Amino acid sequence: MKWTELRIETPDRLREAVSNYLVEQGAEGVWEEGTFPTMLRAYFPPEQAEAVQTSLVVYLGSLRELYPRTQRVHVTAQTVVREEWAEKWKEFFQPQALGEQFFLIPKWRRQEGLAADRIPIVLDPGMAFGTGLHESTRLCVELLETVVNAAEPPRVLDAGTGSGILAIVAYKLGARAITAVDVDPVAVEVAKENCAENNCPGIDFKVCSADHVTGEFDIIVANILLEAHLQSLRAYRERLRTGGKLILSGLLVSQRETIRAALLANGFLTVTFLEQGEWLSCLA
Ligand SMILES: C[S@@+](CC[C@H](N)C(=O)[O-])C[C@H]1O[C@@H](n2cnc3c(N)ncnc32)[C@H](O)[C@@H]1O
Repeated sequence: MKWTELRIETPDRLREAVSNYLVEQGAEGVWEEGTFPTMLRAYFPPEQAEAVQTSLVVYLGSLRELYPRTQRVHVTAQTVVREEWAEKWKEFFQPQALGEQFFLIPKWRRQEGLAADRIPIVLDPGMAFGTGLHESTRLCVELLETVVNAAEPPRVLDAGTGSGILAIVAYKLGARAITAVDVDPVAVEVAKENCAENNCPGIDFKVCSADHVTGEFDIIVANILLEAHLQSLRAYRERLRTGGKLILSGLLVSQRETIRAALLANGFLTVTFLEQGEWLSCLA
């Protein structure tokens, strides 16, 4: 089967933002080679690639406004055959520590063993976002570790579950009554498989947007993008019990004041931030 490969030679400070954007646009795979600059390769069905390339160029223009001194980013497209890339990204997914308590193991490398003092999570993200390697995911894990109290198992909403990694982390930390939603039906299927693989029963999966969830939660964790958060903040406020915790991720450091103002305007009284590189998460 033929695919269009978009190659984006990306300055390192934009690497995560561009990679995330490509995933949000529905890339069937994104992988990175080298540094200074990084070559990002993303794969799309040919009929979709042209529109993505056009929107990517607009997005890159907005990033250049945020970072005017970064070099211009070049995007090229070429046709490739699926077999050439479908397995290649797996080379980059290594077993590794995640947060304070977890050890992440790609499913195809599970025989390589565990870290004795850490809780294993075996993951095959397939076509969904959420290897656990991305800063935005890692920040959510750190924040979940601080707010999930196993002695009082919280009800958790994982909004934008992707591979299901945050639902698994929440479950392993002691949360129960977990709801995991994603607008992408493929992601929901992948999340179900990963949760089953990691013995996390009873999770309520739904294909729906974060702002259409019903029920009440003690914790909401959402690793999406600023625009989706802004659209969903009111729903998050309504779905959280009084005193509940909201973890937002997928934000850039440059978006700190925008999200702070929006949270305060939606009735959240305190906001604290955590960052890694260009990426920002907050707890409200
Ligand atoms: C950056 S990934 C996060 C995946 C995983 N939770 C993690 O932290 O690694 C964002 C996910 O949110 C989903 N998504 C995007 N907009 C959404 C929305 N408005 N409501 C629910 N899910 C959404 C995407 O399909 C994608 O799977």
